[in-house]
Amino acid sequence: MFRKFTILSMTTMFLMSMFTIPVLASSSETPAIKQQQKMVNIAHRGASGHAPENTIAAFDKAFEMKADYIEIDVQQTRDGRLVVIHDTTIDRTTNGTGSVSDYTLEELRQLDAGTWFGKDFIGEQIPTFEEILDRYRGKIGILIELKSPELYPGVEEKVIDALIERNMHRPNNQKVIIQSFNHESVKKSKELVPNIPHGVLTDSSWADVTDEQLAEFAAYADFYNPNMNIVTHELVERVQDKGLKMYPYTVRTQEQADNLFELGVDGIITDFPEYVYKHPVKK
Ligand code: G3P
Ligand code: CA
Repeated sequence: MFRKFTILSMTTMFLMSMFTIPVLASSSETPAIKQQQKMVNIAHRGASGHAPENTIAAFDKAFEMKADYIEIDVQQTRDGRLVVIHDTTIDRTTNGTGSVSDYTLEELRQLDAGTWFGKDFIGEQIPTFEEILDRYRGKIGILIELKSPELYPGVEEKVIDALIERNMHRPNNQKVIIQSFNHESVKKSKELVPNIPHGVLTDSSWADVTDEQLAEFAAYADFYNPNMNIVTHELVERVQDKGLKMYPYTVRTQEQADNLFELGVDGIITDFPEYVYKHPVKK
């Protein structure tokens, strides 16, 4: 009798716990955390706080950390090939010197793009744009920045051709976005592939952006992605009122991420995807 009672009460307690535990968990969440869970997590130049920027190591790390997008910088070689590198020179992130545009792809591929960050990354190469598309499409979103497109006439068409070859230009394909600080380039690209969302990047000199300028951006862009230092709650509202989404850059601390969550941005471009709560990294 006693045994029967014990089994019955244990079963009852187990069933009750199934209902009570989730309630307790959700009631302990703060509003800030709920907001964080909706945030789009964009790994800037890959998870570049953990691995050398714009390399396969950094992009694989972002994928492993379950970021929503990798952000990549696209430029062009002397022989017209698309490569993924941030600076217009190779000095900072490789063992070479000079401009990206002075070298052929074959020459750039000889360079070491990892050792500057740490000896664990010896032998990382500058990736090609096509290599990134083939490795990550369907697995993680790709935020493509046309870096200094004024140096590479026709680069918009080349980027778009590579996307079209892979059917990545289809309507409602929300996993590819094209952006640039060069707004004429964004406009041109949007005309060529209206189905792909586009973003306007602005630096901190745009703190006083007017409603007229935002309306102009909204005529061809889907995102307004400013330097995080100029983001205010009022700016977020004005941008969203124009039908634009906002992914500010570049978060490097938890405090910066928390601040942007509070301001109501739509996504965060960060070197450390773990600061965007949606996908915490358990240690
Ligand atoms: O995606 C935004 C951000 O990448 C823009 O700045 O200089 O890091 O390319 P930058
Ligand atoms: Ca960039």
